[in-house]
Amino acid sequence: MKVTVYSCREFDEKELFIQYGKELGLELVLCPDAPSLANVGLAEGSDCMDILTTPMTEELLRAFGEAGVRYLVTRTIGYDHIDIEAAKRLGITVANAPYGPHGVADYAVMLILMSIRKMKRIIERTNIQDYTLRGAQGRELKDMTVGVIGTGRIGRTVIRNLSGFGAKLLAYDLMENEEVKEYAEYVALEEIWQQADVITLHAPLTNDSFHMIGKDTISKLKDGVVVINTARGALIDSEALIEGIESGKIGAAGLDVVEDEFDLYYYDRKSDVLHNRELAVLRGFPNVTVTHHMAFYTDECVKTVVRDSLEGCRIFMEGKGKSAGQPGEGQKKNPWEVV
Ligand code: NAI
Repeated sequence: MKVTVYSCREFDEKELFIQYGKELGLELVLCPDAPSLANVGLAEGSDCMDILTTPMTEELLRAFGEAGVRYLVTRTIGYDHIDIEAAKRLGITVANAPYGPHGVADYAVMLILMSIRKMKRIIERTNIQDYTLRGAQGRELKDMTVGVIGTGRIGRTVIRNLSGFGAKLLAYDLMENEEVKEYAEYVALEEIWQQADVITLHAPLTNDSFHMIGKDTISKLKDGVVVINTARGALIDSEALIEGIESGKIGAAGLDVVEDEFDLYYYDRKSDVLHNRELAVLRGFPNVTVTHHMAFYTDECVKTVVRDSLEGCRIFMEGKGKSAGQPGEGQKKNPWEVV
């Protein structure tokens, strides 16, 4: 049972892959680079490949399919970087590794608190021995209304966490969840736009959610609204966000993700001229905290994501003898398959 692992990080993932590979009886090929047409050969003879956030286009999927890959697992919760329809056509089963929601949920709350307490300004001042107060006055969550968009595993956990702060909580999702109703009121999206002092995004990136915060939406928001994004960059139109911040409509933002972050985030690019102007502008604002897609990055998440991605491969390969990519009779469906 062979799995080719791409984008394998030497400093934190490699040891875990070796440990769980042994425990699960899998032969692993560990490659530090992202999957590409140049290294497709490494997947020859592997039923499964294990990736991170590389855009898996139809061309790339076809090449890996021709090399024999039948199961592709991404070590992420979001799978918007994979052309799912093409994978289906090519007979490649796609799975994600939905690790626990607490790491991202904690991080979202941290960004909310950092934004309403102007922490970027405070830290910058302290670092240069500017110990003044002017312009650093914050707000208290108990006086604010927080709108949570997407009440799946992460959004729900954020709501539970925030309930301790005494904020009024509004929620929106395509499907309502009973547990959420204990702490928050489900309302129409329009009401979130009109009433929320803080908006935090926890929906996946889909055709429907693409640029859900754009020019139109921003015009409906409360003055001084705080926008937090730990979901996917393209939920927000960066240019519209910049205009909103420049006009003062948006009072602060906490962005763990931005549009077009692929190829930038997780690389040392300090000597390079980058192709993402919006990121440079956003980073420069005193009221915008930008981090490089780190919300997931805890001991717990790294460990479980490596383990669960390999478990998915094992379950797939055990079932493969019955019918390619489908669970055999009496066998449970792989819990991580997304299609
Ligand atoms: P989930 O699948 O448990 O929940 C997503 C929720 O969003 C579902 O309840 C779904 O009904 C809802 N939804 C879908 N389309 C929507 C729309 N157009 N409007 C409102 N709600 C919508 O996913 P989970 O685990 O809560 O993760 C949420 C997102 O967080 C992921 O899709 C991923 O993109 C992002 N994420 C970011 C990480 C980071 O490090 N910054 C790490 C992990 C996930």
